[in-house]
Amino acid sequence: MPVNKEVKKVTTNTLLKMKAAGIKISMITAYDFSFAKIFDAAGIEIILVGDSASNVMAGHETTLPITLDQMIYHASSVVRGINRCLIVVDLPFGSYQGNSKEALNSTIRIMKETGAHAIKLEGGEEIIESVKRIISSGVPVMGHLGLTPQSIYKFGTYSVRAKEEAEAEKLKQDALLLEEAGCFGVVLEKIPARLAREVTESLTIPTIGIGAGRYCDGQVLVMHDMLGINTEFKPRFLRQYLNLHQQITGAVQEYIKDVKSGDFPNEKEQY
Ligand code: KIV
Repeated sequence: MPVNKEVKKVTTNTLLKMKAAGIKISMITAYDFSFAKIFDAAGIEIILVGDSASNVMAGHETTLPITLDQMIYHASSVVRGINRCLIVVDLPFGSYQGNSKEALNSTIRIMKETGAHAIKLEGGEEIIESVKRIISSGVPVMGHLGLTPQSIYKFGTYSVRAKEEAEAEKLKQDALLLEEAGCFGVVLEKIPARLAREVTESLTIPTIGIGAGRYCDGQVLVMHDMLGINTEFKPRFLRQYLNLHQQITGAVQEYIKDVKSGDFPNEKEQY
C-alpha cells in the first residue's frame, strides 16, 4: 500500500480526522531504532513502544517486570528512527497505579527523556484521575481496555474479556469516561467484535483493536507476532505476514556453513 504523501506528520488530530473520514488506522509495536525506521518509512501511522517489550525483548512471561528506565531506553531508540509517525509509549506496571502524581511524574520522564508524543495506560474508571492530570499537563493519552495484560494475575488467563453483560457494560462506561477525560484514542484488546463495534460507534475518538474484530477504527499487532519471529504464539486473531523465524534460522545456518567450510569470506570480501 502506498504511503499517503499528503500526511507530513501524524498527530492525534490526524487520527481523529481519519476516524471521521472512515480511514482505518494502522499501528504496530517497535522497541528499537532499526525496526522503527522500517515501519515509519513503510507508512505506519502509530508506533507503540509497548510494555510487551517485557515479553518479546526481555523474555519475561508477563509485562509486569519491565521498568520505567527500560521503557525509556526502548522509546528513545524508537524516536531516533522515525520521521512521520506518532509514537505512543506504555506506562509500565508500577509507574502510575499509586496515584495521579506518580502517573504524571512517570509521564514527564517519558516525554522529557525520549521525545515520544503520547503515552498509553491500562484501565478505565480506576485510573481516570491520572488520565485527567496527564492530559491537563499537555500530554496526549491513549486508553487501553478489555484484556489489560498488567492485570493478568487478577484475570488468571489471557482469554477473551467482557463476554458477560456486567463486564461489557463496565467497558462501555469506561470507554466513554476515557473519551470525556480527553483521551485521543483507546486500544480494545481481546473482546467480542460485536462489543468493539458498539464502543467504536459510541465514541468520536478512534478505537484501535487487537483481537477485537473488524469494526474498530484501526488495528495494532505486536511486531514479533506479525513478522513470525515469535512462532509459539498463535492466537486466532493474529495474522502472520512473514515467517522470519524460519528465514533467519536458514540465513544463520548458511552463514555457519560458509564460515566452517572457509567459503566466507572470499577474495572479494577481504582487504
Ligand atoms: O504492549 C503492547 O504491545 C500492547 C499492545 C498489545 C496493544 O499494549
